[in-house]
Amino acid sequence: MNQKRIILDTDPGIDDSLAILLALASPEITLEGLSVVHGNSSTEQGTNNALSVLELAQASHVPVYKGCELPLVQPSLLAPETHGEQGIGYAKLSAPQTKPQVQKGSDFLINSIMSKPGEITLVAIGPLTNIALAIRQEPRIVENVKEVFIMGGAIRHEGNTTPLAEFNTFVDPHAAHIVFHSGMPITLTPLDVTYDCIFLKDDLNRLLKIDSPITKFISDATRFYMEFHDEYQKIDGCVINDPMTLALTLMPEICDYQELYVDVDISTGVGLGNTFADFYNYEKKTPNMKVALGVRPRVFMELFIERMEKLAKSLS
Ligand code: RIB
Ligand code: CA
Repeated sequence: MNQKRIILDTDPGIDDSLAILLALASPEITLEGLSVVHGNSSTEQGTNNALSVLELAQASHVPVYKGCELPLVQPSLLAPETHGEQGIGYAKLSAPQTKPQVQKGSDFLINSIMSKPGEITLVAIGPLTNIALAIRQEPRIVENVKEVFIMGGAIRHEGNTTPLAEFNTFVDPHAAHIVFHSGMPITLTPLDVTYDCIFLKDDLNRLLKIDSPITKFISDATRFYMEFHDEYQKIDGCVINDPMTLALTLMPEICDYQELYVDVDISTGVGLGNTFADFYNYEKKTPNMKVALGVRPRVFMELFIERMEKLAKSLS
């Protein structure tokens, strides 16, 4: 099997943590490292969460790199109401024994991509600050990265942070603008498809049949996330955006895609962070990304649950 060499740029975060576990549970993936960005939690807290989740899964060999603490222009915006003060809901993980690498997140991205041209798959599941910085520092990563999967944006779907904007593109719209117009080979996974991928209580109960630190973590983390979704959006379950984005590197057929020209609003009005596609090509611009707009949710959920079951059994 030819391995996918993946870097996760992440703001752990509850669904980020599930994406990390899915990467570890996927034999097709070599997880080259995690670069951590501000977002759901502070970069400091997110770095500790990444280290702790890796230790939970006995995967401390995966290096963690601390990235940017703040958006490029916007003030910091974190999401404790969604992910909890510690960023992992009700889950309690011991403080990590391992330390982050000395190298900064954006430098790690540049060095990995430039030293393995055409081999690195970048999966960005947080605000795009680290990626934008890396592009500005070393523009050649654009043609040397193999492919880029981004969780972010809302094309025809309402926002989850403002009426128009999704969290990752709202927190750092200027970074998203740089990345979207960089020329990188992007596949975008917007709320249009992730909001069909609801992790249900029945799905959790299936996992809880296995007594394992992994299933306990998933239960404690997602219980908080489900309460948020119920209170704020009247959703029965929780939207697991990030593992779904990662799953497309393994099983692209989960979604249907359109090649589109997509932009992000960086004006200072109500549309800040809004992402929109030129479906009728009014601007006569070349499409800058593939956008997932159709999805087979239960195909993804089955993959996710099966792999969590296997991971949990291996660590029970
Ligand atoms: O809007 C959902 C995205 O924002 C997810 O990646 C979630 O983890 C947060 O980063
Ligand atoms: Ca995230």
